[in-house]
This record gives sequence, C-alpha cells and structure tokens, in this order.
Amino acid sequence: MTFALFLHLLCVATWLGCILVEALYEHSIDDSPAMRRFISALHWKTDKFIEIPAFLGVLLTGGAMLHQAPYTPLLWTKIGLGLTAITFNAVCVWLVVKRLALADKGDFAGWEKLDHWQHKLGAVVLLALLAALVAGGALFVAR
Ligand code: HEM
Repeated sequence: MTFALFLHLLCVATWLGCILVEALYEHSIDDSPAMRRFISALHWKTDKFIEIPAFLGVLLTGGAMLHQAPYTPLLWTKIGLGLTAITFNAVCVWLVVKRLALADKGDFAGWEKLDHWQHKLGAVVLLALLAALVAGGALFVAR
C-alpha cells in the first residue's frame, strides 16, 4: 500500500466519522434560538477544522494516485461518486456559513429554510460517500 493510499483512506475515514457526528448533534437540539445559534456555530467550526481538510485530503490524495491507478469502470465509478460527495459537501459548507449568519441576525424563519436544505443535501453527501466506499472496498479486496 502506498503512503498516498494510506492517507487517502485515513481522510475518507475522518470525513465519514465527521459527517456521522454532525448528523448526531444536528438531530439532538430543540428549536430554541440559543440551541440553534450554538449548533450553527459548532457545525461551522467542525467544517472549518475537520470536514473541509478531510474531504480536500481525499481529493488531493486521490488525484496524486491517478497516474498510477489501473483505470477500470469500478475506479471511475468510485471517483465519480467521490467527486459527487465532495461537491455536495462544498455546497453544504456554504449553507452552514449562511445559516450561522441568519442565526446571528435572529432570522430563524430564514434559518429553517437553509437548515432544511442543509439536511437534505447532507443526506446526498452521506449516500454518495458510502457508495464510493463500497466501490473502493471492492477495489481494495480485488488488489
Ligand atoms: C468518497 C470518496 C472516496 C472514497 C470513499 C474512496 C475510497 C477509496 C478506497 C477504499 C480505495 C482503495 C481501493 C484500492 O485498493 O484500489 C481508493 C483508492 C483510490 N482512490 Fe479513492 N475514494 C474516494 C474519492 C476519490 C477521489 C475523489 C479520487 C480522485 C480524485 C480517488 C482516487 C483514487 C485512486 C486513484 C485510488 C487508487 C486506485 C488503485 O491504485 O487501484 N478517490 N479510494
């Protein structure tokens, strides 16, 4: 196993763990303004220091291995699913930043709209990541 592949899998695992913890705390709050403000700030901090570095790490290490990889339909499927997860996650990060700004302004009607879309797109991120993991796992056992 190359060091790049080791780092790739480490970033994938960190990213998945981060998404699961975020989903847990996002579904553990009441609808009080204080809780919504707290969770909006916590989610942005989590994105800034863990989630963004993790999915950028997946992208960079994946890109670094492209030149050596045997191009198979399974690998391209995995990369397509991985890029889908990364793209939707980037949109979610944008929604998290916008949602925090609305919480700071006390606009919770607007906050609820963004919160709804952030959860919907977050589910797409999780599903695409899990599908990429299944494809990657199949590649791994076939090595
Ligand atoms: C959700 C995102 C991703 C997951 C879960 C994932 C998972 C994996 C796994 C499990 C492997 C090991 C398979 C093996 O042993 O060959 C792997 C390898 C690899 N991944 Fe990813 N990956 C993701 C995203 C990406 C992206 C975005 C790229 C490209 C930009 C990429 C490029 C590669 C390459 C080139 C390999 C090495 C393939 C080989 O040498 O056989 N991956 N990935």
